[in-house]
Amino acid sequence: MSLLHLGFWGWYAYILTLLTATPVFCETSIVDNGRVAAVNGINYYVGGTAVSRLMPISGPNSTLATDLIPMTIIRTRETRFTGDTLKRVIGNYTFSDDVFQAGFLEAILLAYDGEGEGKIDPSVNGALHGVDNKIVMALSGYHPRGSVSLAKLRDDIPKGPYFVSTRTGDVYQAFRLYPDHQLAFTEAALGDGKGGFIPLPAAAGGSMTKSVAVPSRLYYTPSSKKPLAGLRLGVKDIFDIKGLRTSGGNRAFYDLYSPRSITGPAIQRLIDAGAVVVGKMGTVQFANGDNPTADWVDFHCPFNPRGDGYQAPGGSSSGPAAGIAAYDWLDIAVGSDTGGSMRSPGGMQGIYANRPSTGAVSLDHVLPLCHVLDTAGVFARNADTWSTVMHAWYHNFTDYQKYPKRIFYSKASFPAADTKAGALLEGLVKKLEKFLGTKRESVDIFSQWEKTHPSHAPSNVSDLLNTTYAFLTSVGQYRSLAVPFYKDYAAKHGGRRPFINPGPLVRWTWGQDNGGNTAYDLAVKNKTVFKKWWGSEGFGKPNDKTCSEGIYIYPYTTGDTQYRNVYTDAPTIPPMGFTNGRVANMAETPDLVVPVGEVPYNSTVSHHTEYLPVTMSFVASRGCDLMLVNLIKDLEKAGILNPVGTGPRMYST
Ligand SMILES: *[C@@H]1O[C@H](CO)[C@@H](O)[C@H](O)[C@H]1NC(C)=O
Ligand SMILES: *[C@@H]1O[C@H](CO)[C@@H](O)[C@H](O)[C@H]1NC(C)=O
Ligand SMILES: *[C@@H]1O[C@H](CO)[C@@H](O)[C@H](O)[C@H]1NC(C)=O
Ligand SMILES: *[C@@H]1O[C@H](CO)[C@@H](O)[C@H](O)[C@H]1NC(C)=O
Ligand SMILES: *[C@@H]1O[C@H](CO)[C@@H](O)[C@H](O)[C@H]1NC(C)=O
Ligand SMILES: *[C@@H]1O[C@H](CO)[C@@H](O)[C@H](O)[C@H]1NC(C)=O
Ligand SMILES: *[C@@H]1O[C@H](CO)[C@@H](O)[C@H](O)[C@H]1NC(C)=O
Repeated sequence: MSLLHLGFWGWYAYILTLLTATPVFCETSIVDNGRVAAVNGINYYVGGTAVSRLMPISGPNSTLATDLIPMTIIRTRETRFTGDTLKRVIGNYTFSDDVFQAGFLEAILLAYDGEGEGKIDPSVNGALHGVDNKIVMALSGYHPRGSVSLAKLRDDIPKGPYFVSTRTGDVYQAFRLYPDHQLAFTEAALGDGKGGFIPLPAAAGGSMTKSVAVPSRLYYTPSSKKPLAGLRLGVKDIFDIKGLRTSGGNRAFYDLYSPRSITGPAIQRLIDAGAVVVGKMGTVQFANGDNPTADWVDFHCPFNPRGDGYQAPGGSSSGPAAGIAAYDWLDIAVGSDTGGSMRSPGGMQGIYANRPSTGAVSLDHVLPLCHVLDTAGVFARNADTWSTVMHAWYHNFTDYQKYPKRIFYSKASFPAADTKAGALLEGLVKKLEKFLGTKRESVDIFSQWEKTHPSHAPSNVSDLLNTTYAFLTSVGQYRSLAVPFYKDYAAKHGGRRPFINPGPLVRWTWGQDNGGNTAYDLAVKNKTVFKKWWGSEGFGKPNDKTCSEGIYIYPYTTGDTQYRNVYTDAPTIPPMGFTNGRVANMAETPDLVVPVGEVPYNSTVSHHTEYLPVTMSFVASRGCDLMLVNLIKDLEKAGILNPVGTGPRMYST
């Protein structure tokens, strides 16, 4: 008998036979991973887990091809809710949130947070003229009238846009899906509601890249306990986050190890303060120093949005910086700085970027480059947000409000004041002098060292530190990351080696071939010699009242091009030498890079005049991070520094 001729009951019986014949009972696992819904052409992710339930289910039928209807919860303390109140609230929600839009007014739920009982004015219906609204509901605090029906929520939830199922009454949060067109992210993430995360199980069409889901800003209200509430946070993919894998920018590493069972304390502290993790972001492999053109073999290098869009993003925190410079839907991003990995991408993308004092936050559960140098910093587009994050993050530092009266000006490193970049920097230094009520002192580390160095050390500081960073990182990472990674990989892959990008591989090999552990120990000693000198005879002396005796300043980027399509030589050795950027690494001090302005260049890509960032570094004594960021925030308040925007230009024109 052909199966086609079984008929319905025949099929039923046949399937039953199959099921009962199955020797091992095996339960099918089905997980609701949520849905993607487009409202007025904008893509949203509708979570798989309901945050509340609307009772009784009185929603109208959806206009969507699903049982979902968009709904807005409006919360006010207005005792009399009028049509004008409604218009004002809609205006406010539209202005302050990129997830909310008029489509969510299809259903409206009014909640009263004031004293006594609130009243809904009949003018509300008139105010909805021209809005596609099907139902207005109110929670019991508002006395319903006319066409407004009474509803209940199983769980109290904040104001903002939601999706509600007309079938079950389940209420889901609305996440807007944004395309990652700069390739800034390695994986988008979503909170699992239990303190962990899952990779975002959704992608919207219409772009060649993954999607990142961001929740409505209206769900969050910052408080003293949660100063970062609702700030959307991207995290460099060397920090472990519970439920997600860590790639370190290496495909084999991502595949080899399971999703992490713990979120490291640095990121956990930001989450506890209210930040919302939206994904992991691109990193130069294992936080080293690859160039985009040929070194980024395992993953493609994130795109710097400034200028013609084809300039190197800097590294190694390339993804977090590119994301902050490109996406206004992302507020802050965390990276690391061992030898410039925050400052370089911050400078090249013209955003606020800090290397904190070494030890500012615990780096447990973060892939190491070198334990004595690694730090975690944050990128932001304005000093206000930047400062809020640093205060919430770096608990160990005193919050000095008085500023030093000495500016140590690294004269030789500033470009001539008659160049465009030089003029911008000179303008800032003049304003800084005025703001602090002081005059700069031109200084030079090399000659200061020559005059005051410890007698046992060489008279040229370059001779002390030329190879120090190279040994600390190449031997440090070989021991703490490469050795266990090679071992674990070989155990699982029949003795094979994993692929490593040329950059880190050259460094690890160089470190082993040129001195290994012995050179490493010497490097630690040399670093300590410099650190002591910087805090006593150098320009990093502490001060009781102002934390640091002075502020050491030097230019970070001056608007030079570094095209992605210009081939560089293959890497052969780690970075050598001593420059201003090494001070903070060796002396364990903060080094904060701030955007100053932009200068034009003729792009060989666009054949147009484009603009690239000019930035400056502020260095102070170890532990003076909060003093420095307070100062920088005050400079922004005074209009001396300015918040930057996203895209090709730093400032809107
Ligand atoms: C929703 O649609 C179904 C099927 O078309 C219909 O039977 C029902 O009456 C509709 N309900 C409402 C509230 O319009
Ligand atoms: C929206 O309302 C909130 C709360 O009343 C207020 O803090 C905020 O400034 C308003 N925003 C705008 C853009 O009106
Ligand atoms: C911060 O200070 C506490 C208390 O003094 C100390 O236990 C902790 O190790 C410090 N954290 C860091 C990262 O230095
Ligand atoms: C110190 O060494 C650097 C690097 O070799 C060199 O450029 C510089 O001229 C030296 N300085 C002095 C004062 O010799
Ligand atoms: C720094 O060290 C490297 C590697 O040993 C060497 O090639 C280079 O000449 C040194 N540079 C200076 C300025 O000493
Ligand atoms: C340490 O400093 C000495 C000079 O005192 C120098 O010869 C040596 O190359 C340095 N080594 C490292 C690894 O920093
Ligand atoms: C761009 O090229 C034009 C024409 O050669 C030149 O006049 C101009 O100065 C150049 N601009 C920059 C910023 O280099």
